[in-house]
Amino acid sequence: MRDGTPTTIYRKEYSAPVFSITDADLTFAIYDGFTLVSSILHLQRQREDEAPWVLDGEDLEIEQIEIDGTPLQQHEYSYDGRQLTLPQIGESCQLLTRVRIYPEANTALEGLYRSRTIYCTQCEAEGFRKITFFLDRPDVLAIFKVTVEADKASCPILLSNGNAVAQEDLTEGRHRSVWHDPWPKPCYLFALVAGDLESVSESFTTASGREVALNVFVEAKDVNYCDHAMDSLKRSMKWDEQVYGLEYDLDLFNIVAVDDFNMGAMENKGLNIFNTSCVLASPDITTDAGYLRIESIVAHEYFHNFSGNRVTCRDWFQLSLKEGFTVFRDSQFSADMNSAGVKRVEDVSFLRTHQFAEDAGPMAHPVRPDSFIEISNFYTLTVYEKGAEVVRMLHTLLGHDLFIAGAKYYFAKHDGQAVTCDDFVSAMEQVSEKDLTQFRRWYEQSGTPNLIIDDQYDPTARRVTLTVTQNNGQNSDGASKPPLHLPVAIGLVVKGHSHTFEEGGSTRLLEVTEAKQVFEIDNVEDKPVVSLLRGFSAPVRLQSADDDDTLAALIGSDSDDFVKWDAMQRYASRVIEAQARGEPLSDAFISAYRQAMSSDIDDAMKAQLLTLPSEEYLADRQAQHGLVDVFEIRGAREDIKKILATEFEAQWTSWFSRYENPETYQANGRQIGQRALRHLALSYLSQARPEALDWAETLLGNADNLSDRLATLRVLVNGGDESTRSAVLGNFYQQWQHEALIVNQWFTLQATRPSADTVESVIALQNHGAFDWRNPNKIRALVGGFASANPIAFHRQDGAGYAFLGDVIARVQSANPQIAARLCTPLTRFRRYAHGVDAMQSQLERIAGLDNLSRDVFEVVGKALDK
Ligand code: TRP
Ligand code: ZN
Repeated sequence: MRDGTPTTIYRKEYSAPVFSITDADLTFAIYDGFTLVSSILHLQRQREDEAPWVLDGEDLEIEQIEIDGTPLQQHEYSYDGRQLTLPQIGESCQLLTRVRIYPEANTALEGLYRSRTIYCTQCEAEGFRKITFFLDRPDVLAIFKVTVEADKASCPILLSNGNAVAQEDLTEGRHRSVWHDPWPKPCYLFALVAGDLESVSESFTTASGREVALNVFVEAKDVNYCDHAMDSLKRSMKWDEQVYGLEYDLDLFNIVAVDDFNMGAMENKGLNIFNTSCVLASPDITTDAGYLRIESIVAHEYFHNFSGNRVTCRDWFQLSLKEGFTVFRDSQFSADMNSAGVKRVEDVSFLRTHQFAEDAGPMAHPVRPDSFIEISNFYTLTVYEKGAEVVRMLHTLLGHDLFIAGAKYYFAKHDGQAVTCDDFVSAMEQVSEKDLTQFRRWYEQSGTPNLIIDDQYDPTARRVTLTVTQNNGQNSDGASKPPLHLPVAIGLVVKGHSHTFEEGGSTRLLEVTEAKQVFEIDNVEDKPVVSLLRGFSAPVRLQSADDDDTLAALIGSDSDDFVKWDAMQRYASRVIEAQARGEPLSDAFISAYRQAMSSDIDDAMKAQLLTLPSEEYLADRQAQHGLVDVFEIRGAREDIKKILATEFEAQWTSWFSRYENPETYQANGRQIGQRALRHLALSYLSQARPEALDWAETLLGNADNLSDRLATLRVLVNGGDESTRSAVLGNFYQQWQHEALIVNQWFTLQATRPSADTVESVIALQNHGAFDWRNPNKIRALVGGFASANPIAFHRQDGAGYAFLGDVIARVQSANPQIAARLCTPLTRFRRYAHGVDAMQSQLERIAGLDNLSRDVFEVVGKALDK
């Protein structure tokens, strides 16, 4: 271990800070190889007791410390490399410190570091302590004034939060900029950027008529790739005004793109910093999914300006207060900008495959965790995605208008404060006058609820009876977890038509609060098909008596996009599972599939509907009653895919050739849908017709966009022989080697080729000239893609896939602990599998025994091995 056994932090041990820091005046003098950080803080005691004056600061080289103008001698303070303890001072003081830090040597990408030629920061969650001494916790809010000095030729652009107040030239070719942020903020929202950047600039007029200058800063080579992000930003600003009544609060909003970044993007006040992969867009470098992703991430970071920045978190256990709410807000925005049904299906599909697995594994935790060792490990699908589902349930339970009124009340009441998830629910409760006491359990209880719904029809009484049972698993003491308050939206399909309920409307909301509960619906004229959990109204595993006829009826005639899609996922899963048991494919499924092909929905939704459940989703189903066999799943899924390919060859062919002469690329909904369906058709055809490879090659040659190129390349790489594969991959690399983001996709394409020998390809690609161990995008593209999206290669029976991942983690873990901890995930779920359990476990043990083990990896591996 790096510095002794790390300690666990508990939510229940929260105590308010000993002192406040009301003002922070920071000066950064950036030199080649090191940076001097001078800080003047105004400290004000908040507690009566004798608690000492202690500040956070990690591995800082102290050059100077003064209190109220008097230098401290070394014996007057103590510093252990993590905390600085000052002598007892009176009620308040001015603390001056000067420290030396080394951004160029910072490979963890936390604190101040250098990405290629750009100096930038990442402070969330606890990176500010690597920059200077502070109380590095979100409930300490200060007004920041920041001066940045650097060489003018190499760093012509100097940025920080808030508004630029001064700029001047200094001697020796240096210059300085001074920034002031009028809004008090926690230090995790601090940001600084210095480098040679170009910008695209526009302006936005707020609802009340204020002009806001907007800039997207990138390296000169990328200046043509900023329009989509800029456009997304403006639409986000307008949307937040229209839907939540929130108007931007500074005269300037800057976005900066950097290549080396641990996550997607960061919402620093007035200075968002983005991973280039989440900002840069053009038809050549961005897929359709990429365009949508950029739109939603730009919106997400912008929306944080209120949900996160103006109202922030009291402590990191409350992380979902800002993340769950902001993911909910960005998903509403994307739903409004694009197809709401498709967006919902994509979100649910993602949640069910990835968050459900997390919630069933060794890192399972509540939306508001009770303890952690390293907070970076809790930027999870549970906090983000399940957290957003919890907010969405509040929206469903309250209805849109009350929810928005509750949100407005929350923003007004807690403006400028650091609050808790409970404060959020309380605001909703006060405005709606709805009792949300039981609902709060969603924040406390981990695990995915199982919901069993049984329906009966009584023709004499013309009554439908629904019996709902919820099972939420057990606590560590073996007691059943108590029931949750969950909204279940339902509809009835009667004689092929949607039933109108007595109270009006075709969807009815059941509020389930008990472990077992019965609901009755009267005046239903005939035995209905019950459409359950419309819109996926609660994040549960639903079990219902879904016989083939019911599923076929829902696919054929339900009006809810999610239910329709889910019925097909269930039906196809059952068919694949039956195939694995050696049972023949039924004609009934073929005819349900045929009906889905001709249903009256747009192309994007149709492509979703006709896509077979993913191997990951099938694995989750298998894990519910046994061990996961990735080879069996793959084999059976491919068999069914081949049958559907052949059976519907004519329809696939017609869809593939329908857009033979495509319009010029645009990332609009209609075209995205057309391409999705066309690519799906090609992927089926590649299983049925040898000519499909030639068609793919032709389309690859003619394509004017990355989506078409990658879809065709995938077919050629996965379906072609070795010489085809190396030729097309070689040509593609030749053509696009200068675009880092495309090279990432090229790595992923090879890492996810479903074949046992992909292990050797991936091992070889680590030594490719374009691979870079310092760049998280490259590691994610090659190693992450292989370990988390290529089950049959990763789980190769000889354990070579596990050993490769173990090697990578060992190599990365001390340089970049955050990235290494995330790479561990596929190994941590070793207990789920029918094969490879011992081999995975021994890789985890090997990692646990490494010298210099980071806290991040220690926690993840420790939890995996213990449970
Ligand atoms: N707050 C960021 C977001 O969700 C998340 C983030 C960006 C982050 N960079 C990080 C979290 C580094 C932990 C570490 O938008
Ligand atoms: Zn966020």
